[in-house]
Amino acid sequence: MAPGVDLVIFGASGDLAQRKILPSLKRFANRDGMPLRVVGVGRTAQSTAHFRDVVRKSSGSQRLAATAEWARLDYRTQATFSGLKKLLSGAGNVIFYLATPPETFSDIIRALGQSGLTTRGDPARRIVVEKPLGHDLESARKLDAQLAKAFEETQIFRIDHYLAKDTVQNVLAFRFSNSLFEPVWNRNLVETIQITAAEREGIGKRAGYYDQTGAVRDIIQNHVLQLLALVTMEPPTTFDAEYVRRAKRAALRAMSPINPSYAVRGQYMGYLDEDAVANDSRRETYAAARLSIENWRWDGVPIFVRTGKALQRRVTEVVIKLRDAPHLRIGGNRQRGIPSLIVIRIQPDEGITIRIGAKRPGTRFEMVPAGMKLDYKGLTRAPLPDAYENVLSEVLAGGHSAFPGAEEIELQWEIVDPLIKAWESEGHPEPYARGSWGPQAADDLVASGGGGRWIVSGDEPGTD
Ligand code: BG6
Repeated sequence: MAPGVDLVIFGASGDLAQRKILPSLKRFANRDGMPLRVVGVGRTAQSTAHFRDVVRKSSGSQRLAATAEWARLDYRTQATFSGLKKLLSGAGNVIFYLATPPETFSDIIRALGQSGLTTRGDPARRIVVEKPLGHDLESARKLDAQLAKAFEETQIFRIDHYLAKDTVQNVLAFRFSNSLFEPVWNRNLVETIQITAAEREGIGKRAGYYDQTGAVRDIIQNHVLQLLALVTMEPPTTFDAEYVRRAKRAALRAMSPINPSYAVRGQYMGYLDEDAVANDSRRETYAAARLSIENWRWDGVPIFVRTGKALQRRVTEVVIKLRDAPHLRIGGNRQRGIPSLIVIRIQPDEGITIRIGAKRPGTRFEMVPAGMKLDYKGLTRAPLPDAYENVLSEVLAGGHSAFPGAEEIELQWEIVDPLIKAWESEGHPEPYARGSWGPQAADDLVASGGGGRWIVSGDEPGTD
């Protein structure tokens, strides 16, 4: 982008803006030659002075605070956009960032077009939309159609902040720059794949959003399926965004829609007492499912995914469990091997561990689990960039590799849609204790589906 960028944040007084977007701006505020101005937009009446204070506190940047502006508007009333239009008159590049609840997207996109603030095809006008993109397949398609009417695809940036995490991007580097792994990365040697995205915290003050959303829409439909696509897709022709998207689409297309009989939903005990949660809410705070990928590479490999709030600890990781060695006889005895695991730890303690069997040092021939570990943070002296820093850096540069395309998002909805629909008419989710690993039924799901048991590194010998 040419110098001079106005970042217009819709919903700037909200949680996301203050916790994630504004703090990630500091790095850009101090970049010479590209003055960045933040324009906060929202339904609340507040003075520019107050907003500048918010910007200073959240971003830690005097420079950003000094130029920040606030515009109050009603998303449904196009006439109220005139104040914003005045503020932006003469602006060079403008990024419209929708950090508002999803039900407002449609009104905002319409009003932006009608008030002439955006023009289809103008590269100096970009739009960033936060997930969830739609509430189900049908609403996602509607939103895409509306976006496509107002913007060209190159102007649209759909956020799935997992794709902007360094460790998620490293999945591509790990898989496709090391020929060592390619021969094992298929149904012949992989017994099962598991993805865990567990959080320790409950829903905090986000009931307004979460009680309408639940674990499948919040995490599985986007973050987990994107991660699974990256882990299972074919090598892209190049790492350019379009080729990576193409490879992900093919993987997602091969995933069968989730069969509700192979899924488990749970709700943590105490959820109904959280602020602003409906007292008879059946919303799931935990979801686990078995998936399959029907293609040459993965046919017959059971895949298990799970996510939840208020679980034992915060950990997101992918575990690839390899088949046992076919034959291991020590002396006269046939031995059980130690299953080899490839663990890609997305967070925290970012890294990759390969768990293998080794001989226990000593006079006897005995096997022990042992680990080979890449500590991702050890590769740099600098702190790992926050996902939102990567997101904004890409939007400013006009790149799309950290963003899913429209079609991927629709394919992801196709995968979870039957589950969402089935759960709407089911009774109460299975309760689970805060600090546990979720409902017992999820353990049974893995055991009966040929996956053994859930594995998380650290709890598994050789992976700490
Ligand atoms: C967001 C979800 O997309 O991801 C939140 O809406 C969740 O519910 C968050 O807490 C997790 O992100 P991270 O980066 O902390 O793993």
